[in-house]
Amino acid sequence: MSKPKVIVSRKWPEQVEAQLKELYDVQLNVDDIPMTQEQMQDALANCDAFCPTVTDPVNAEVLSGDNIKAKIIGSYGVGYNHLDLDAAKAAGLTVTNTPEVLTDCTADIAMGLLLSAARRIGEGERHLRNGEWTGWRPTHMVATKVTGKTLGCIGFGRIAQAMATRAHFGFGMKINFSDPYPPAQEVINKFGATQMSVEEVLQTSDFVSLHCPGGKDTYHLINKERIEMMKPHAILVNSARGDVVDNQALIAALKAGTIGGAGLDVFEGEPALDPGFLDCENAVLLPHLGSASIETRIAMGERVLANLKAFFAGDIPKDKLV
Ligand code: DGY
Repeated sequence: MSKPKVIVSRKWPEQVEAQLKELYDVQLNVDDIPMTQEQMQDALANCDAFCPTVTDPVNAEVLSGDNIKAKIIGSYGVGYNHLDLDAAKAAGLTVTNTPEVLTDCTADIAMGLLLSAARRIGEGERHLRNGEWTGWRPTHMVATKVTGKTLGCIGFGRIAQAMATRAHFGFGMKINFSDPYPPAQEVINKFGATQMSVEEVLQTSDFVSLHCPGGKDTYHLINKERIEMMKPHAILVNSARGDVVDNQALIAALKAGTIGGAGLDVFEGEPALDPGFLDCENAVLLPHLGSASIETRIAMGERVLANLKAFFAGDIPKDKLV
């Protein structure tokens, strides 16, 4: 029996690509150049499994062709706002993602951004590298203490809970959260967390960390009006999706100093960066590195492999979205 044909949209860690080569008739993307819409349509018409990642918009148009041969989209990444699940379902496709394996690393980056923004770590490093340091003094680059402060999480799923673990048990922080689908009471009790509305989280927290999914329901959830609800010293951390935050409103608040700062791993319109952010010394900016540890990136690939294996064996993949 011939091996199923698998098309992968971007370069993956070599250990996982080696496994793909062994198991499937695979088309890799060795040049790592993003696929165009036409190339994705062509891929769907010529494979059994298409494996995009979170930056490939597999939208209704890509899925509109009447010559789709693929039976499964095994997406590499946990977020799925780049996938039109309704259109995929209508086209008879199974769709999977890669939850759980990137929880810790994404929470690490969120905590890193919180600490960096609070303690002016990026700014301090720039200061040193620019040769501006004249020595220790009591008033030099004083910042905000983290230990014992209040962390507000918007969304309280796996990654937020991992962030709360670091913040509560590592830094003695009080946890507030807002989530339309809250976790079990025992999880809430573990952190001594308080559930409240998004607005109350913004009003009561020293640090606000975003952990909600992207997509139309959360588009610009953090807009000018809501940013104005934050405490003047509060710091916003976003390791979720860029378009949850209105760039212009955030840049205006950072420049005016109406909030204390921001730690951002994701951006509306990324990889294009609104140049306004570059003028904000009080913002720590990272290029979407949440899951970027070698262990996690291999685990994400292996999770796709497990989903494909189950699908081609006639079983329901563990991470089936539709
Ligand atoms: C995801 O998986 O959704 C992250 O944004 C990238 O790892």
